Amino acid sequence: MTKNSNKMPIAVLISGNGSNLQALIDAQPTANYEIKLVISNRPSVKGIERAQNAGISTLVLDHKAYDSREAFDLAMIEALDSKHIKAVILAGFMRILTPEFTSHFLGRMLNIHPSLLPKYPGLDTHQKALDAGDKEHGLSIHFVTAELDGGPVILQAKVSVDANDNVESLKQKIHALEHQAYPLVADWLASSKVELKDNQVWFNNHLLKSPIDFDQALVNKS
Ligand code: GRF
Repeated sequence: MTKNSNKMPIAVLISGNGSNLQALIDAQPTANYEIKLVISNRPSVKGIERAQNAGISTLVLDHKAYDSREAFDLAMIEALDSKHIKAVILAGFMRILTPEFTSHFLGRMLNIHPSLLPKYPGLDTHQKALDAGDKEHGLSIHFVTAELDGGPVILQAKVSVDANDNVESLKQKIHALEHQAYPLVADWLASSKVELKDNQVWFNNHLLKSPIDFDQALVNKS
């Protein structure tokens, strides 16, 4: 039996840089998950290099090579199931998933989104927060359902929007928090601390009435 055999085998899906993947890799030694596979729908991205440097199996499935969204998602399901992947972490994966895919991994798949959901699903969230004159912005980590960026939210982390902030500064502030928050929540999923039941989030066997605040999660951790 290997040292890691009781860790949950997970996969990370990416489309680009993979800085969140890197954070998940870096946290792995003390986490309850083991990244067994990284899939990218785009070839030659930095995230694939990061996985290879960490000795993790990689797979490029170029969505353009498939006739339909369904065929592409089916190929991903086959790849993930053949590796006995128990949970899927979306980390900058820029593809809309089919209901077949989301139902296959329901309760076993997380996404990280750079806004305080339900505000600003989709793209350009930083610009939208600036345009709206928001004083607060942030990130959400949620279970993935068939609704784009619409699954039940587990945790949110907030940043203030200051007078001199722009898209780039907000992106940087949020990225820094993402790298701390995502490994934490992935670890909760891998240790069954967080669960999805009847489309609601349960944390430590208690129904979560509102998303966990990241600052509070850190206080409780220490
Ligand atoms: C992150 O900002 C995440 O919130 C969004 O995509 C971005 C991925 O960044 N879903 P990276 O590839 O992990 O650097």
